[in-house]
Amino acid sequence: MKNSQFFLLLACIFLSPGAFASDNENDGEELYKTHCSSCHGVAGGMDMSKRIAPPIAAVRMHYIGPYPDKAAFVSAIVNWVEKQDARKSLMPGAIRRFNIMPPVKVAREDAEKIAAYIHEGNIEKPAGFDEHVEERHGKYRR
Ligand code: HEC
Repeated sequence: MKNSQFFLLLACIFLSPGAFASDNENDGEELYKTHCSSCHGVAGGMDMSKRIAPPIAAVRMHYIGPYPDKAAFVSAIVNWVEKQDARKSLMPGAIRRFNIMPPVKVAREDAEKIAAYIHEGNIEKPAGFDEHVEERHGKYRR
């Protein structure tokens, strides 16, 4: 291969979107869908007897109070994803109801992107979530 062809090839690889894990803001959402949404998504709605885990919006609500700033929030969530430790739980009621979250295999940098995405707050909520929060936990509303 001639040098010029080689550099052209390199340029194609480096410039093509998605060739490498990027810092794209959408990564967090995609990674969340891949690794978390099956349990924390909208399936089962607000009927906790039909769910296998709390909605991710409920998780956010319990973490954003004690960890409002992004770095602290991200590290709390990433620590949890790396190791579930009931003593550090902010949702002991959820552990009683659903049992403790099973280990989930996610690379640390991916977990960080997921946590940043959750912190941002533009996340899925089951129908009726806001009403439930208003009714049952008015004091946490933000
Ligand atoms: C196999 C199902 C399942 C998957 C997948 C899952 N979770 Fe969970 N998660 C649970 C359950 C059940 C709970 C509630 C019990 C608990 O708190 O441990 C929970 C609770 C949590 C909590 C609150 C922990 C606490 O008690 O303070 C966080 C934070 C969390 N999940 C983050 C995530 C993130 C981020 C992902 C994706 C990387 C994820 N979970 C994937 C089942 C799951």
